[in-house]
Amino acid sequence: MLRDQIRALVKQYYDENFGLGDNNPMKNGVKYAGRVFDEKEIINAVDASLDFWLTEGRFSEEFAQKISDFLGVANVILTNSGSSANLLAFSALTSRKLGDRALQPGDEVITVAAGFPATVTPILQNQMIPVFVDVELPTYNVNVNALKAALTDKTKCIFLAHTLGNPYDLEPILEIVRDKKLWLVEDNCDAFGSRYHGKLTGTFGHLSTISFYPAHHITTGEGGAIVTSDDQLARIVRSFRDWGRDCYCAGGENNTCGKRFSQQFGTLPLGYDHKYVYSEIGYNLKMTEMQAAIGSAQMDKLPAFCEKRKQNFAAYYELFAKYPKYFVLPQATPNSDPAWFSFILSVCPDAPFSREDFVKFLNSKRIETRNIFAGNIIRQPAFIDRNFRVAGSLEQTDFVMNQSFFLGVYPGLTTEMIAYVGEMVADFIKDRA
Ligand SMILES: Cc1ncc(COP(=O)(O)O)c(C=O)c1O
Repeated sequence: MLRDQIRALVKQYYDENFGLGDNNPMKNGVKYAGRVFDEKEIINAVDASLDFWLTEGRFSEEFAQKISDFLGVANVILTNSGSSANLLAFSALTSRKLGDRALQPGDEVITVAAGFPATVTPILQNQMIPVFVDVELPTYNVNVNALKAALTDKTKCIFLAHTLGNPYDLEPILEIVRDKKLWLVEDNCDAFGSRYHGKLTGTFGHLSTISFYPAHHITTGEGGAIVTSDDQLARIVRSFRDWGRDCYCAGGENNTCGKRFSQQFGTLPLGYDHKYVYSEIGYNLKMTEMQAAIGSAQMDKLPAFCEKRKQNFAAYYELFAKYPKYFVLPQATPNSDPAWFSFILSVCPDAPFSREDFVKFLNSKRIETRNIFAGNIIRQPAFIDRNFRVAGSLEQTDFVMNQSFFLGVYPGLTTEMIAYVGEMVADFIKDRA
């Protein structure tokens, strides 16, 4: 009864504090992203707090199950961030349990330099060599011919993000993966809900990852997940996530394997408690129950969020299609249906204004913009003099670094906001062009 009263009060609190909405772009600006929620997320967060279980429990199970049902993939392992998900997915491929398929220090991993660092850093953190290939416009995804040209005997893995929600051309990439017996890790952090040939991204690779940071399709504040249909990989990922332990009992459970005190591991004494046997060099990157409770409520909104992202993208497309001389418009990869992360544009080099002019103007009008993350990552201070290889030219990557930016398409945008952006862009173009 007390819980019901608390839930009713939370609803009232939500209505009074968040429910009215304030969509006036003149007052609040047009954000590139933001959390979109109603009382259900807060009620779940409060419920989880009242349970006070804290670590993975009923909400974590529910959240993981909803992701698993949505993607149609059996194993979902929750983590404290998308970056952790990338680190764990990639590190799992180094497990000795994979025998001669395990990645080794010095192996080459093909990726792109026009992206987010968390897709690249796990490669370096595991003493492997990122091989950077160019992207192509207007999909902003890997150039498959450049990828083919980058393959060597040392290539063991392809680790790519679906750029800003736009799926990369999976068909030829999967062919390469099969032919060369490579691993494919899909960084699906910006593309949760995108489709390629009707199939959801994040279901093609050996492993895929999701981020629940507020800019993404759904949020848990911080949070992420690893998805795989391979039970062995799932168990390895879980082990890496949970300190490297061999035991796979859920929190609060004992002796799931029925052999807790009867096995031989390493040079430990026979029957050493399985709970404290470590078969991987692991981490602790688990999600908390409060995060999962929020995520579970968000999952119910994911299909509607994806639709709204597509609508907002279409509205921006119509708006910017009026200025083909000045902007390169984005394009979905053939046979794909992106649940866009954002609306990406490049300012044409011969436009009578620079990208900087344009984004400064938009930001001065409280319209948020972002660059394509690291631009060309090899030019970032952290990457100078690191052990990577550039295959071919990164000409388009440099173009993206210099000319591209994005606007948000998150579901919190209103038609008024997009109309306001349209007016501001028209003013700017009238003035400059
Ligand atoms: C493509 C991509 N991968 C990974 C991440 C990392 O996710 P998180 O911020 O949850 O660590 C991001 C960033 O948000 C991203 O855009």
